[in-house]
Amino acid sequence: MAVNAAQEWWQTAVIYEVYPRSFADASGDGIGDLAGVTSKLDYLANTLGVDAIWLCPFYPSPQVDFGYDVSDFTAVDPVFGTFGDFGTLVREAHGRGLRVIIDYIPNHSSDQHPWFTGSRSSLDHPKRDWYVWADPAPGGGPPSNWTSEMGGSAWQFDAATGQYYLRSFHPEQPDLNWRSAALRQAMLGVLEFWLGHGADGIRIDVAHMLAKHPEFADNPVREQPLRNFTDRQHPDFDRQEHLNDRLQPEVHEYLAMMRRVLDDWSARSGRKRVAMAEVEVMPWDRWSRFFGRRDDGVHLPFNFRLIEADWSPQALAASVEGQEAALPLGAWPNYVLQNHDRARLATRLGLRHVRNAAMLLLTLRGTPTLYYGEELGLADLPVGQERWLDPLGRDESRAPMPWTSEPGGGFGPLGVSSWLPPYPDLATVSVAAQLRDPGSVLNLYRGLITMRRSTPALLGGRYETVKAEDGCLCYLRSTDEQEVLVALNLGAESASIELPRPGRLLLDTSCHRRQAQRKRLDLPRYSGAIIELDPN
Ligand code: GLC
Repeated sequence: MAVNAAQEWWQTAVIYEVYPRSFADASGDGIGDLAGVTSKLDYLANTLGVDAIWLCPFYPSPQVDFGYDVSDFTAVDPVFGTFGDFGTLVREAHGRGLRVIIDYIPNHSSDQHPWFTGSRSSLDHPKRDWYVWADPAPGGGPPSNWTSEMGGSAWQFDAATGQYYLRSFHPEQPDLNWRSAALRQAMLGVLEFWLGHGADGIRIDVAHMLAKHPEFADNPVREQPLRNFTDRQHPDFDRQEHLNDRLQPEVHEYLAMMRRVLDDWSARSGRKRVAMAEVEVMPWDRWSRFFGRRDDGVHLPFNFRLIEADWSPQALAASVEGQEAALPLGAWPNYVLQNHDRARLATRLGLRHVRNAAMLLLTLRGTPTLYYGEELGLADLPVGQERWLDPLGRDESRAPMPWTSEPGGGFGPLGVSSWLPPYPDLATVSVAAQLRDPGSVLNLYRGLITMRRSTPALLGGRYETVKAEDGCLCYLRSTDEQEVLVALNLGAESASIELPRPGRLLLDTSCHRRQAQRKRLDLPRYSGAIIELDPN
């Protein structure tokens, strides 16, 4: 329900990331599947109240990178079900008013994809230039110093033809060459295919990597690492300035091509389709490449800034203000606190920050994207390195969704072991347990989502930081008719904040609401509140 009729659906939506392998297992093989997702649509649409789901990859894949190594872009992997299951999911989702965004992976395929087996077979194969091939450097060795996001060189030597191919991720994930018109045509065809089968939009995997330097110029080497957070991906990232292995100006051209396909389908079908681009953290002035200056690129970033920001009022305010200023006309902000690649927030920052994080995410100006289980305040599930299937250990933030308190957590049929063990504390973390507790994290998320939907200032109002010090972050969200103050005490001391004028409590992080408020707001440590200020 868009309160402001001028806003597009993705501007008022809450998007929920579903990792199909870990959401719900209908087939009983221990691995989640599309029918499992369908069986939980009532929960998503009605109990939680989100507006759209983003489905991580469900395409045929050797699963070296858990489905981000695709061997057929226009089919469903039997692990996840059938093509018919996808149709059912879309139909059932649409029947509940839920949009379905799919993962679109344009930067690479699996090495098992017939395009690549053809390409690597000979120097003059017609699909040779669908991938990025290069001769060894003059003195031998890789053509450039580019590093893989999985560690080590990004170049893989292929003895059969004596050249290297680029693989910005695993060796089994060769990079596609967007400089080839035929490849572009084929990948845009993939997009057409899924839009034709009901997808409401795409999340573009590693959009920042699509355009590489045409002559593979070395990246400048950096002596001092820049970042101070622990990231499971990109072990070598900080050793270089990634100027040439990504982000070349042509990235906008390629994204604009995708946008034209989406716009065309929107016009033809009367249903607006959205593009959300995974954009790694980079200086704000490079962001325009993704959106274009004439609203001809993607609609939304998938913005990692809050994941990487220090959890301090100053850093969070800077991150929000940075995005507000960086986005060109027509683009819309997005906020994310966790996803399938990063440690969950409760693990990164500690459980005590979960409630304020929820309030922050759902009250900023922009589309919030939730990761499954985030609404339960889940932490990572430590399974031990010997059980990792992902070499980077990202499995620990991809554990089976705990639905009930019964053995196995209701993830699949009773008695079936799931691909990763269930959470041990099901009696407190599961959906069923949290629904029974009015003050649970799940009920906080539900309250925030409902309130956001019925509060025009939160859906579309302006953003203004009013305080970012002494442990507190306070900001105003306002339309001409309504003014809402969000006050978050991120610190370990209690705080007392003077309100600009009296107001009414809409919701606090302990799930209290609808109380009259005096001129001061007392906030216990690690707590927040949303106040609708009385009209002037
Ligand atoms: C994105 C995905 C990640 C994957 C990588 C390669 O960052 O989110 O899971 O490993 O791209 O496709």
